[in-house]
Amino acid sequence: MGTRDAQDTDWEGVRLHVVSGKGGTGKTTVAAALALALAAGGRKVLLVEVEGRQGIAQIFDLPPLPYEERKIAVAPDGGDVYALAIDPEAAMLDYLEMFYGMKRMGKALTRIGVVDFATTIAPGLRDVLVTGKTSEAVRRRDPRTGTRVYDAVVMDAPPTGRIVRFLNVTQEIAGLARVGPIRHHADLVRGVLTSPETAVHFVTLLEEMPVQETLDGIAELRETKLPVGGIFINMVRPAGLPDAALEAAFQGRFDTAELAAGLKAAGLAERTGDAGPLAEALTKEIAEHARRVELENQERETLASVGTPRYDLPLLPDGADLAGLYELAEALRAQGAA
Ligand SMILES: Nc1ncnc2c1ncn2[C@@H]1O[C@H](COP(=O)(O)OP(=O)(O)OP(=O)(O)O)[C@@H](O)[C@H]1O
Ligand SMILES: [Mg+2]
Repeated sequence: MGTRDAQDTDWEGVRLHVVSGKGGTGKTTVAAALALALAAGGRKVLLVEVEGRQGIAQIFDLPPLPYEERKIAVAPDGGDVYALAIDPEAAMLDYLEMFYGMKRMGKALTRIGVVDFATTIAPGLRDVLVTGKTSEAVRRRDPRTGTRVYDAVVMDAPPTGRIVRFLNVTQEIAGLARVGPIRHHADLVRGVLTSPETAVHFVTLLEEMPVQETLDGIAELRETKLPVGGIFINMVRPAGLPDAALEAAFQGRFDTAELAAGLKAAGLAERTGDAGPLAEALTKEIAEHARRVELENQERETLASVGTPRYDLPLLPDGADLAGLYELAEALRAQGAA
């Protein structure tokens, strides 16, 4: 972590960025900002959504995205961000066409419920099709030039509780297919997901639950030999007070009389005595704030113990609107995440 040259990133050679984390911590927001950051300076990045919730469209203020790659944003200094909302049913038909040359058959199968089978009875197969579609985009080359079509692919992935199952494709289809094209396909996908070209990142807040989920997720990934990426600490609030004042407030030694005098000097009270109640109330709030900062610092230390790169993303006062996404992208670039 730390400020560095724009060219110099912590994830040199990584082409698939999988973004997981506890629900509601900002996975979709961070995935979008990371895609913008990676595209900066003229690169081409695909942002993939896998849960059919149209989160990308919402965040970029667009109508629902079709199951089709399309350009949705221009990055700082002129790169392109494309988006794809993967539809597992359509991915199933793609798959049948690709491996069995049976698109028409696939359409007939839809009616008789094979797609239902794949999406509800055998969710493992559904996951393989979704990760398969993503891996295909990672590997895809321009037929004329032979170069990769996308410089990077960013996936807005399922939350921590489901991420390892989702990515552990070989395991998932083990009961379904030991040999044959599905197995071969799963092995191909696994090859991409476990390679140094992939990094699985976690978004967290400086709170106990999301931090614990991050630690659990990282431990599980390591056990499964999936590549652990970085930790994105989202919605970071500025400390607001100097360390010494926080320390004093945390220990209950904050000087309320001095604050009252300060309030008076600033014209916020007629006489020093009038500032008393206000200073008392503020002192309580400052103590509360100091306790929160202390807890946040403890969570930071816990995250540091994991030993992966960490990046801070500020709490955007106006929420994660489009301008906010560019601000987050800039913060990611400045810290070497892209
Ligand atoms: N840095 C930030 N500053 C302010 N608001 C933010 C920030 N990051 C995310 N948000 C807001 O927090 C909410 C949750 O973000 P987001 O949808 O990205 O989370 P998620 O992890 O994808 O959620 P889910 O688990 O439902 O998919 C959104 O309203 C978003 O605008
Ligand atoms: Mg989301």
